[in-house]
Amino acid sequence: MSKTQALLDKQKRYLWPNHILYYTEPMALDRGDGMYVWDVEGNKYLDFFGGILTTSVGHNRPEVVEAAQKQTAKLIHSSTLYVNENHVNLAEKLAEIAPGDLQMTYFTTSGTDADETAVVLAKAYTGYQEIIALRHGYSGRSAMGMSLTGQAAWRIGGTHIIGIKHALNPYCYRCPLKMTYPQCGVACAEDVEEVIKTTTSGRIAAFLAEPIQGVGGFITPPPEYFKIVQEIVHHYGGLFISDEVQTGFGRTGDKWFGIEHWEVEPDIMTMAKGIANGFPLGATMTTPEIAQGMVGKGLTISTFGGNPVALAASLATIGVMEKEANPAHVAEVGAHLRAGLERLYEKYPVIGDVRGKGLMQGIEMVTDRETKEPATAAINHLFEECRNLGLLIGKGGLYGNTVRIAPPLTATKDDVDRALEILDVAFSRVQEAM
Ligand SMILES: Cc1ncc(COP(=O)(O)O)c(C=O)c1O
Repeated sequence: MSKTQALLDKQKRYLWPNHILYYTEPMALDRGDGMYVWDVEGNKYLDFFGGILTTSVGHNRPEVVEAAQKQTAKLIHSSTLYVNENHVNLAEKLAEIAPGDLQMTYFTTSGTDADETAVVLAKAYTGYQEIIALRHGYSGRSAMGMSLTGQAAWRIGGTHIIGIKHALNPYCYRCPLKMTYPQCGVACAEDVEEVIKTTTSGRIAAFLAEPIQGVGGFITPPPEYFKIVQEIVHHYGGLFISDEVQTGFGRTGDKWFGIEHWEVEPDIMTMAKGIANGFPLGATMTTPEIAQGMVGKGLTISTFGGNPVALAASLATIGVMEKEANPAHVAEVGAHLRAGLERLYEKYPVIGDVRGKGLMQGIEMVTDRETKEPATAAINHLFEECRNLGLLIGKGGLYGNTVRIAPPLTATKDDVDRALEILDVAFSRVQEAM
């Protein structure tokens, strides 16, 4: 019996059966180094999904390993009841790279936790209860995370938290209003006001959205969208929460945070994933004034939030980004990737849309460019071909038909060329089989 099979047998016996595993024959990862991972059978893969956009500076990056090892030997756990050097230093670093007045941080352990913290803060600060989120969005696996999420498949057990409403998604490729940009005048943004007026009490605590929807399939709103929406949200008493769990830390190129592309300064930003290269860490940032909103409202604590080892890993991760994977580098390599994907679009009709920014690029697959029928069988075929050729990619979208390409930010143009070569072969086989 293969090593993988032995592990799978154990997984089947002891882990809940609802774990999602990629590939018809799931793979068991054994080790990683930079852009590559190896499975337990010794097969090597170029990782262009980066552990769901998390290994932001590559697998087992030596500086991150060393920082975590050093901190582990010194003090693994402190809790936030005591002041900790890494805690204050990382908060200071985030204040340096975050836009404008977003200067204060609360650390947690995941994206779900960061989003929950943001919603609690918005309610505490505004005194209002209702939240607007976007259809197709994804906010995590807790009761509130699932309720904020705008996809039925990710909402086990129904909508748990009331008072959350979902506005139309700025999904230009499949416009919910059947209009075309720019003639549409970004009419979808106005829907936020309609939703507030018709489905809430008229005063909201917050609007929460991802600048580019991750799980939603890298859906990228038009340039005017967030400016219009933020004005509406503020008018009705709410705060704008930008969920940067996938778009943060230079992922979108040029800027440290995704929302900066829309020239909007959010009231709150949440982050996780790429913040610490795989160590569990979440962060919620806001302005000093809004942070005061938590004071005198009750007690809160996160036992593992602000864990010194995760924080040390994060400081080292951001150090590597500043040195060799800063937003300018991501923009350059991302443009190279995008140009290659556009060439694939010209060659393969199964590609309906290419979208995203920086090193966050999506390929929506369709059986027919006219009808835009989601090509679900074809994306599964593509996955298997890429795996066999040694490339890991991700999947997303409400219809499960969008390829998510998001390598570590340390990727070079050579890495991108290798991935494009594999994608070219894989798409040609998929197209031929259709
Ligand atoms: C945009 C966004 N927000 C929140 C989350 C939840 O993060 P976590 O899985 O770390 O709880 C995710 C996870 O994919 C995400 O993509």
